[in-house]
Amino acid sequence: AEVVIVSGKQQAGQLVAEAIARLVRSRPDAVLGLATGSTPLPVYEALGTALAGADVSRVRGFALDEYVGLDPAHPESYRSVITREVVEPLGLDPDRIHVPDGSPEGIETTGERYEAAIAEAGGVDLQILGIGTDGHIGFNEPGSSFASRTRVKTLTQQTREDNARFFDSIDDVPMHCVTQGLGTILEARHLVLLAFGEGKADAVAGAVEGPLTASLPGSAIQLHPRVTVVIDEAAASRLR
Ligand code: F6R
Repeated sequence: AEVVIVSGKQQAGQLVAEAIARLVRSRPDAVLGLATGSTPLPVYEALGTALAGADVSRVRGFALDEYVGLDPAHPESYRSVITREVVEPLGLDPDRIHVPDGSPEGIETTGERYEAAIAEAGGVDLQILGIGTDGHIGFNEPGSSFASRTRVKTLTQQTREDNARFFDSIDDVPMHCVTQGLGTILEARHLVLLAFGEGKADAVAGAVEGPLTASLPGSAIQLHPRVTVVIDEAAASRLR
């Protein structure tokens, strides 16, 4: 991976937003892979300026994951988050931005349907990734197969604790999610992984330098020929 150490979130956001803007200017129907959580927010904030004057009417997007059984209208559903943080501020066409369907009815086929939609779009051009403190990417928790496709997963207790800050209490954090698989993510043409803070340092070191292991799903990025890792000093502190 190409590792870029930045001074902070703002610089990271600007750098990645500029890369996305270059892509969209050269390919107006670019397919973006969108992460949620806190990490990509500086990218989404910087995109408004980076994309100024660009035609974004044909930009397409696929979110990495969604909670199962959370009303899509709930403010913390990833459908709501992507709408609020990305689609509305950038003026994207909501019909071109996809989020896995986490509704319990039809959950058996939701993964297949999502894979088909990504394939129909011709695959993801640039995938934004965060990483969990336990090394997950998407919601591929430790133990996930490197060949996995979009499917339902159980969130670990660690991830539910990490994400409780978005909810009134940990009891409100869903138990399950639908997530793109590691095999799905690895098919994107460019992976851009961001991480900030000391809490991510072990996960980053494992992903970038550690052994390839399902125990640290982020290590799957080592199998990809084009990866950019954008991290601050604290997140880089365990790299050799
Ligand atoms: C979000 C996602 C997760 C997060 C990870 C880090 O779509 O797939 O892998 O990127 O949990 O979360 P934050 O950025 O909130 O620290």
